[in-house]
Amino acid sequence: MDILNPAVDRYLGSLASTDDEPVLIEMEEYARQHGFPIVGRLCGRFLEVMARTINARRIFEMGSGYGYSAYWFSRATGPEGEIHLTDMDPENEKRALGYLGRAELDGPINYHVASAFDAFNETSGDFDIVYCDIDKHEYPQAFELAKSRIRVGGLYMCDNMLWSGRVTGEEPEDSNPELTRTIDGANRLIAADPDYRSFILPIRDGVVCAVRVR
Ligand SMILES: C[S@@+](CC[C@H](N)C(=O)[O-])C[C@H]1O[C@@H](n2cnc3c(N)ncnc32)[C@H](O)[C@@H]1O
Repeated sequence: MDILNPAVDRYLGSLASTDDEPVLIEMEEYARQHGFPIVGRLCGRFLEVMARTINARRIFEMGSGYGYSAYWFSRATGPEGEIHLTDMDPENEKRALGYLGRAELDGPINYHVASAFDAFNETSGDFDIVYCDIDKHEYPQAFELAKSRIRVGGLYMCDNMLWSGRVTGEEPEDSNPELTRTIDGANRLIAADPDYRSFILPIRDGVVCAVRVR
């Protein structure tokens, strides 16, 4: 199921194509060559815009890969920011520090080679944004863990919430319905949380943006 009409997707992509920094293009090329699931240009811009909107300085990413989503957050936070990246693969850390260093966006970076939940528990304080892009079976837990440590007015954001449309229950092919139910469960958990107002933006694979209201 196409989440976004392909022509609309291409149109939005063309508007976002004005970002032509060489390091960004290299990071996208690496994803293409290695089939690495980065969030991509549209979602990246959305992360940056949301971070700028709330003047975010302190961000925690659960599942950072080689730093593509953090690239967009770093554009918003500037050198005064503090961005925590997490991934269990040390090769991703090396790659992220290389790319972000060359893009001169590495000032605010703290990379934890660890499970996102362990690193989150070991990092004190509240955040302006917690962004989640880890293994999908951990999605409900990620929100449960993060929600009380996002400041009022801050955001919980998470990718793949529409799961190629499978969460609708109207996709004939679903090789892992249990995982789909878990993601649907996370969506319902976030939507029903009285401390958050949320919305899933149907770009890419569905990005939830939930603002803490109390
Ligand atoms: C989809 S990729 C992240 C892409 C990244 N957000 C971007 O757009 O550039 C998911 C990454 O999360 C890592 N990962 C998955 N589960 C994790 C966990 N529980 N803790 C830390 N990292 C995890 C994987 O190793 C993988 O590199």
